[in-house]
Amino acid sequence: MPVPLFDTVSPVAPLRPQLDAAIARVLDGGAFVLGPEVEAFEREYAAYLGVRHVVSVANGTDAITIALQALGVGPGDEVVVPAFTFYASAEAIPPTGAAPVFCDVDPDTMCATAATVRAALTPRTRAVVAVDLFGNPAAIDEIRALGVPVVEDAAQAAGARLGPPEAEGDPAAANGPLRAAGALGDVATFSFFPSKNLGCFGDGGALATDDDAIAEAARVLRFHGSRDKVSYERIGWNSRLDELQAAILRVLLPALDGWADGRRAAARHYADTGLGELVTLPVATPGAVPAWHLFVVRSGRAAELEAALSAAGIGARGYYRTPLHCQAALAPWVPAGLALPVTDELARTHLAIPMSPVLDRAAAGEVVAAVRAALA
Ligand SMILES: Cc1ncc(COP(=O)(O)O)c(C=O)c1O
Repeated sequence: MPVPLFDTVSPVAPLRPQLDAAIARVLDGGAFVLGPEVEAFEREYAAYLGVRHVVSVANGTDAITIALQALGVGPGDEVVVPAFTFYASAEAIPPTGAAPVFCDVDPDTMCATAATVRAALTPRTRAVVAVDLFGNPAAIDEIRALGVPVVEDAAQAAGARLGPPEAEGDPAAANGPLRAAGALGDVATFSFFPSKNLGCFGDGGALATDDDAIAEAARVLRFHGSRDKVSYERIGWNSRLDELQAAILRVLLPALDGWADGRRAAARHYADTGLGELVTLPVATPGAVPAWHLFVVRSGRAAELEAALSAAGIGARGYYRTPLHCQAALAPWVPAGLALPVTDELARTHLAIPMSPVLDRAAAGEVVAAVRAALA
């Protein structure tokens, strides 16, 4: 039985009548960009995350650029970003005029930590982009304690949660108050690209923050640097969410927690069917309740496994085989001799295998059997 890498159809199928009604409502209303659906979605997502403000934009890449600019990042500044993440986490930095500075990640959680960020700090560091990679929240509290503003890149982590810092190493404390991924940084960013945990039917993104000034700056920046479409106070962007996507996201948002439960259940199916005996399983950040966007295992034979699984009809993909400090476009910001050994090792050994809110025990068993056969 083939098992796809992800499934963007089955989870939303039961919501079809509500989606049809939401789309019809927008068509009947005649407002298509930054209208009542966008305002309502921003309110509803802010309530879900437990933050004061959500500012929607056109995609998750713009969200990072705008978040950095709203924090005051500009020419001459440095922004620390992990080298093991999607390209956009770093690509979003140069449009602010600042320079990306690459840091390493933790081998188990695959996220940047306070220690890996600290190693990249200089007097010019003005912000950190900390990525909740693969749906696993980074240790944002410890990174914020370094004293530099943090943009939490939560593009992959909608539906994930993180316990209090003191939960580290103490499972009982991890049962304390949980904060949403997206409520952890000075400002957080989301992508609503269709394959994301909360994905619309096109491009979309958002910033989330408790800070009134950051939210206000982001609202100005997303609309050409203007508050009133009459006077233009800075060079901004044309980066807006449209009404159709907002109306769709309003239908999908109430399903997000159930989908995140489904992703965690899929991870349990993998563990229960013996995957951990064959490859190294992803490790949650202490105190975290991840919403596995991708299920990324590690193996010294990752390339071979990727080919064998693909041949067997099982979705498998190495997402970041060429890490960011080795990408041609980012070479101007890579100092000679930069050593990021954990990133290099993960780039070689990571492999995403099927993950979705509806991946059941039988499908997990198929995947594990195929992995076993490939590595025999
Ligand atoms: C970690 C991370 N950051 C940023 C982005 C950019 O989001 P978008 O594709 O909506 O611009 C993505 C999306 O793939 C991502 O995975």
